[in-house]
Amino acid sequence: MYKLAQYQESAAYLRERLEGFAPETLLILGSGLGFLAEEIINPIRVSYSNIPHMRASTAPGHAGCFVAGVFEGKNVLAMQGRLHLYEGYAPEETAFPVRVAHLIGVSKLLLTCACGGVNMDYKVGDLVLMTDYINFTHPGLLAGYAGNSFDLTGFEHRFFDMGQAFDMEYRSLSREIAAQIKIPLREGVYFYMTGPQYETPAEIRAIRILGGDLVGMSAVHETLMARRCGMRVAGFGLVTNMAAGVLDQPLSEEEVLTEAKNAAPRFSALVRGVVRGM
Ligand code: HPA
Repeated sequence: MYKLAQYQESAAYLRERLEGFAPETLLILGSGLGFLAEEIINPIRVSYSNIPHMRASTAPGHAGCFVAGVFEGKNVLAMQGRLHLYEGYAPEETAFPVRVAHLIGVSKLLLTCACGGVNMDYKVGDLVLMTDYINFTHPGLLAGYAGNSFDLTGFEHRFFDMGQAFDMEYRSLSREIAAQIKIPLREGVYFYMTGPQYETPAEIRAIRILGGDLVGMSAVHETLMARRCGMRVAGFGLVTNMAAGVLDQPLSEEEVLTEAKNAAPRFSALVRGVVRGM
């Protein structure tokens, strides 16, 4: 388990590298979506491997780099690639950068991820606004973060409300932006699975019964850590494939990355609009 001093050391290093630049929004860019970080103005790049105590990114399509700079007039810190449980990392390791970002003053999180479509009304290429998530897979990320001993900013509490994992105002804003730029935006519940294998058709049927619309291998620990730190979160999934058993074809990593590329212009327009209004 990380010690408070380790978060502080990482935050101090990142703050120094940013030379006075103060990001307010963290962007976590999932599989094949890291291209958005290339559109940041006056970028300062910091590789994850240089941040004390932070783990490296090993997944395909995840560059493993923080990019800080101006995006749509806002000071952002983008994560070009994230950390996953299936890379062998503990939940707290995957969520580590979120608390570090919080310690350097970030108060908002926008995350994106590639997902399988569980809801039969979805189709490949759909952008989905996350309205909530379900995580039945793992012992608590926050177990052991006793009381308020990690609370440096006055936000962190052991028992806290998760009624709005994904912020209500950000959800309204996202609907407005999607309508303005005329792109269809679906809504749904993200169901977390640890991976790295894709699910079985029986798992997907069970997820559908349990209320999942999307399935993916990230997002929840980041969201949970952000909420613990009092950050407001917006989450977007891209349906890169229909989930196992929906179509009569095997799932593959290539399909996920190809669809992410195809959706790039729409995804970029949506994220830009939402970041501007957050
Ligand atoms: N399942 C889990 N994670 C995913 C999928 C999927 O079908 N597609 C992209 N990420």
